[in-house]
Amino acid sequence: MPRTPLVAANWKMHTTHEEADRLAREIAAGAAAVQDVDVVVCPPSCYLMPVGAALAERKGGALGSQDVSEIVGTGAHTGDISGAMVRDCGGTYAIVGHSERRATRGEDDACVARKFEAAQAAGLIPILCVGETLEERDGGETDAVLARQLGAVLEQVGIAAFATAVLAYEPVWAIGTGRSASPEQAQAAHARLRATLAASDAKIADSVRILYGGSVKADNAAELFAQDDVDGGLIGGASLKAEQFNAIVKAAGNH
Ligand code: PGA
Repeated sequence: MPRTPLVAANWKMHTTHEEADRLAREIAAGAAAVQDVDVVVCPPSCYLMPVGAALAERKGGALGSQDVSEIVGTGAHTGDISGAMVRDCGGTYAIVGHSERRATRGEDDACVARKFEAAQAAGLIPILCVGETLEERDGGETDAVLARQLGAVLEQVGIAAFATAVLAYEPVWAIGTGRSASPEQAQAAHARLRATLAASDAKIADSVRILYGGSVKADNAAELFAQDDVDGGLIGGASLKAEQFNAIVKAAGNH
């Protein structure tokens, strides 16, 4: 089944209001110029609304959050932002389980699974991040780590939930290091992830978009996206430069 490529920008804790607005406009213009690629911009939460407005004005790109609360509803949860709030700000996607949050905010597999569920309950499309550390890769544990991280979410929400979800394979050792996974390494991991889903439902597995993230740049995007099971990218550093990011979107459009 042909899957529409998706390229998502993860700005992390970068940009001012003014920079976010400008960058969103430039990215929207790039997205509008490329056919058949879904573009998602995930700014810091405080800029969701202006970035959403800028994207809408230029008619290019959807809005997403970098995280979402695992709690559904409202309540005394200082600092949390619910999926419904992200929706209310115009968001349609939410990154969940990014390795930076797993590593520094104590988000374990069960917490990530609850966030995935909460995002979907609010009508958001979760972008579920999974990936191994260098130590785990060197120890030959990559497949087991991916199976555990994906398995925890599957157990929580069931396979049907993956019909409206996106997966992102992000090896921790490749994030922000300038050392991307090779196309072969990415393809192998993506194929494993798809096979894990296929064990429950082949049709859903075939339709799920699996993004690669970790030091994707304009000059290595094409070879990564050329892999059968790589359906786009989750872009950190290179998403802060419109020219770089738009070139990555263009590369996705060529596959
Ligand atoms: P990077 O980050 O592109 O800067 O490696 C990717 C990510 O963390 O989503």
